[in-house]
Amino acid sequence: MHILDIIEKKKNKLPLSEQEIQFFIDGYVNDTIPDYQASALLMAIRINGLNFEETLHLTKSMLYSGETIDLSGIDGYKVDKHSTGGVGDKVTLIIAPIVAALDVKVAKLSGRGLGITGGTLDKLEAIEGVSIDLTEEQFINQVNDIGFAIAGQTQNIVPADKKLYALRDVTGTVDSLPLIASSIMSKKLASGADGMVLDVKYGSGAFCKTIEVAQDLAEIMIKIAEGFGKSIVTVLSSMNNPLGRTIGNKNEVKEAYDLLKNPDAADKNLLNTVIEVSTYMYEISSKKSHEEAKKAVLEVLHSDIPVQKFEAMVHAQRLTAEKSPIELDFEPKFSVDVIAPEGTTGFVKNIDAQTIGTISLDLGAGRHTKADVLDFFAGVEILKVKGDAIEAGDVIMKLYANKEVPAEFVEKALATMEYSETAIDPIDAKRVLKSKDLAE
Ligand code: URA
Repeated sequence: MHILDIIEKKKNKLPLSEQEIQFFIDGYVNDTIPDYQASALLMAIRINGLNFEETLHLTKSMLYSGETIDLSGIDGYKVDKHSTGGVGDKVTLIIAPIVAALDVKVAKLSGRGLGITGGTLDKLEAIEGVSIDLTEEQFINQVNDIGFAIAGQTQNIVPADKKLYALRDVTGTVDSLPLIASSIMSKKLASGADGMVLDVKYGSGAFCKTIEVAQDLAEIMIKIAEGFGKSIVTVLSSMNNPLGRTIGNKNEVKEAYDLLKNPDAADKNLLNTVIEVSTYMYEISSKKSHEEAKKAVLEVLHSDIPVQKFEAMVHAQRLTAEKSPIELDFEPKFSVDVIAPEGTTGFVKNIDAQTIGTISLDLGAGRHTKADVLDFFAGVEILKVKGDAIEAGDVIMKLYANKEVPAEFVEKALATMEYSETAIDPIDAKRVLKSKDLAE
């Protein structure tokens, strides 16, 4: 078998066999297929797609490209959560301590930023001393002790995705449904949870630009999960606007921590997403009704337990640093205000998430190449989010970086704004799809 034949086949829109997919994954993981040939095949897949059979074979080959995690050492139901990626999406940092506070175990393997979308691992590393490199033993012990852990995939877990994910990020091959579905599901299946909730984003700041495409992705992932006998809920939620009021790394962690400390002061749309996703995680774990699960989530959210869980996670994952207080002072060297110009009046209708994601990336919060080093202070703070009343002279956003912020970024940020004369609901509606075993 030759990789060039496989590339030619996909270039000519022909389906690949299980053996060909296995050959590609084995060769790429073992370094016998170089990046340039893998990139060519990824681009052919991005353009010509994969059918469901091919997607299932790809998921399986990726899943078994390394070790899978054995969570049998963790007592109780293990639930996982994943977002297909968005701008300002800090939900994992918030829901894991909430669900753990309800005595459900969350053993979470997360990813790094991809394109304009941030990654939970990058955000966690913005907290002084926190490591995402846990051994399997540390990971399992932490989940048993605290109720949750958030770690990076080790080289041994789905190594195929680790390599492909980084390559896709820099070759324009992220936005492919079969590649996204196999990437997410291989990791979810390898991490051994009993059930999972996937937050499938759609809109300008997401890989899926419309709710219809998000639904297609959700349906592929549900079919894959069903094939492996796993319970799954997919929550389709909008990423037309950034999620919450911060985009970056350190500022997002601060927003997450602040929400846990005082949910009533949090951004309403972010809070709604947090409550919905936590409720489904608790619902599939506890088998309670949606209403009962939501009541329990709201009660625990208004207690001190999730904050204590978050702090316990930070201390546990500070493997080398001393147990000092969590230091989230946000002091970037440069900060530039984006001000509502003359004539602005009404309510914020939309803030284009894709452009804000690009600004944040260009300020240093994300990577253009695999080797880029992040500026944890870089990013955007939105002071006027969707639904807020606004008038000329208001500060709409602040742009942060440790390097001088170019003036054109302010113009670009202003151009993301759409206004309405009438009031706008800040909370985006959600669509939910479930695996057959959970469907009412
Ligand atoms: N998240 C993933 O884990 N993989 C993708 O391909 C996209 C989002």
